[in-house]
Amino acid sequence: MSNYHIKHLEEYFQVYRKSVRNPESFWEEVAEEHFHWRKRWNSVLEWDFTTPEIKWFDGAELNITENCIDRHLRIRGDKTAIIFEPNDPKEAAEHITYTQLHERVCKFANVLKDQGVKKGDRVVVYLPMIPELAISILACARIGAVHSVVFAGFSSTALATRINDCGAKIVLTSDGSYRGNKTIDLKGIVDDALEQCPGVDTVLVKKRTGEKVEMKAGRDQWIEPLLDKAYSDCVPEIVDAEHPLFILYTSGSTGRPKGMVHTTGGYMVYTAYTFKNVFQYREEDVYWCTADIGWITGHSYIVYGPLANGATTVMFEGVPSYPDHGRFWEVVEKHKVTQFYTAPTAIRALAKKDLDFVTKYDLSSLKVLGTVGEPINEEAWHWYNDHVGNKKCPIVDTWWQTETGGILISPIPFSTPTKPTYATLPMPGIQPALMDENGKEIKGNQVDGRLCIKFPWPSIARTIWGDHKRYRDTYFAAFEGMYFTGDGALRDEVGYYRITGRVDDVIIVSGHNLGTAPIEDAINEHPAVAESAIVGFPHDIKGNALYGFVILKETGEGRNRENLEKEINQLITEHIGPIAKLDKIQFVEGLPKTRSGKIMRRILRKIASKDTDNLGDTSTLLNPEVVEGIIKESK
Ligand code: WTA
Repeated sequence: MSNYHIKHLEEYFQVYRKSVRNPESFWEEVAEEHFHWRKRWNSVLEWDFTTPEIKWFDGAELNITENCIDRHLRIRGDKTAIIFEPNDPKEAAEHITYTQLHERVCKFANVLKDQGVKKGDRVVVYLPMIPELAISILACARIGAVHSVVFAGFSSTALATRINDCGAKIVLTSDGSYRGNKTIDLKGIVDDALEQCPGVDTVLVKKRTGEKVEMKAGRDQWIEPLLDKAYSDCVPEIVDAEHPLFILYTSGSTGRPKGMVHTTGGYMVYTAYTFKNVFQYREEDVYWCTADIGWITGHSYIVYGPLANGATTVMFEGVPSYPDHGRFWEVVEKHKVTQFYTAPTAIRALAKKDLDFVTKYDLSSLKVLGTVGEPINEEAWHWYNDHVGNKKCPIVDTWWQTETGGILISPIPFSTPTKPTYATLPMPGIQPALMDENGKEIKGNQVDGRLCIKFPWPSIARTIWGDHKRYRDTYFAAFEGMYFTGDGALRDEVGYYRITGRVDDVIIVSGHNLGTAPIEDAINEHPAVAESAIVGFPHDIKGNALYGFVILKETGEGRNRENLEKEINQLITEHIGPIAKLDKIQFVEGLPKTRSGKIMRRILRKIASKDTDNLGDTSTLLNPEVVEGIIKESK
């Protein structure tokens, strides 16, 4: 029996039992047999969920790029590591072999070194989905620098906040980016952001769109000439297993974004292991995850997990609707994709279009389909299964988080029988628990509660950059001795898990986590706004859309409401990005509040979802009279 590659259900149960009976020897075996370490660990795991402190493979030394690139060179140097599929289908796809990837990563690493980047320095990467995005993060890892990718759809303010939070001195970007028929001026956004970032002294710019950009003397340089001059080999910096590999920001329910810190050894082991099993990856496969590397899905399952397995991974620059709604399927046919991993919001959008967009392509190469990011509804699941998978491809509904680093709950294709809307069973090593509101574990099946994990797994985030207390308070304080996910879940009669959604003030819109507080902060900056509250409501493509309840100041009362709505959305776009724009805005006289002054979002959620027959207990409200008025004028 191989711990590393599970091939049938019985084997899954055996491996799972072993993994929870003795997690340390389980992960030790996986780590030993499948990875290249420069020095062995002193201990497999040291942990304490109270402090909290978690260390995997402590004392071990490695470089993750040796595992993702160098060790493949001898056996699969000419194999394609990355297929780059550009936004414009008329532009040729690029096939980058492992040998070429090695050379490009080394050159990039040498450029970073020449710019003075050292082990432990943070490098902010604000690049579109072009090969340099993957190459630059691997280059950081090559020299032990900590990458922090900011999704290139975030606004200049959001970018500046992240740059300042992690204290980066260098930013990597491009002149612009392509998204469908739009061109975005990324360099201009960086220039705006840097007005608020005095610590940044270097900006390296990759040419992509060829649009004219301003290059600030002494700060900005084009990357190409530097790469041309760079030496094509770079000795990897050997780091401790617990050396930070990257920081990736995720929204919190309150306050600033949280810079989740992932470290090297455990992250590598867990993402590689789950990639292999969840996608049943085999040597000749072509795997495609449509996420952006600006999100955790792209980090773990476009770059690190696939490359650690010597896989061929597709990077797609474009969008599913350009040049038409058949683009995904055209790319599947063109590259003979075997595993396809996307988000429910994309499936829902495509399912609304003519079926010809799907049927005109040959999708027979597909073996496994995946989804991630939000609950998938039954209708979308069936459409995906029937029309994309032709009822032959198991769907892996993978549940996980930026904080978890890798997939925690998912079917194993060809082993776990799937069930629409269920993420099904925990991965080996993962011990889920459902908790009630009083902090007690709910045992048995056919129950629901708050989803926690009882025991550490190798890729759990180790801290929040610069704020360990917030890390403890957010994830380890709600339920003693457990990691709290912020999600609700139910366990059915056979023990399958279904994720029911967030139980905190994070709202998932089109698969993107958005905290209510930062959006409210942006709105409240409007001079006419006194107070606001954001809630989610069901939306047939985005999953959730945002509904804003806004109280105007007396001075704002006379203003044109339509203009105000535009200005509010403009502020949100500036502060966070267009993904956080509100679908509906209602101006209200007051907001339902508890006696302690907290907004009762539960009631607003019901109003936004048009579910006002039973508002539940409103007796604890300070101002029950406002509710009627809000309902009457709701949109
Ligand atoms: C949600 C994305 C239901 C969940 C990898 C989680 C899901 C949040 C699923 C994390 C799924 C992710 N079914 N809900 N298969 N996958 N979620 O950090 O609420 O962007 O807490 O990580 O997305 O989002 P994040």
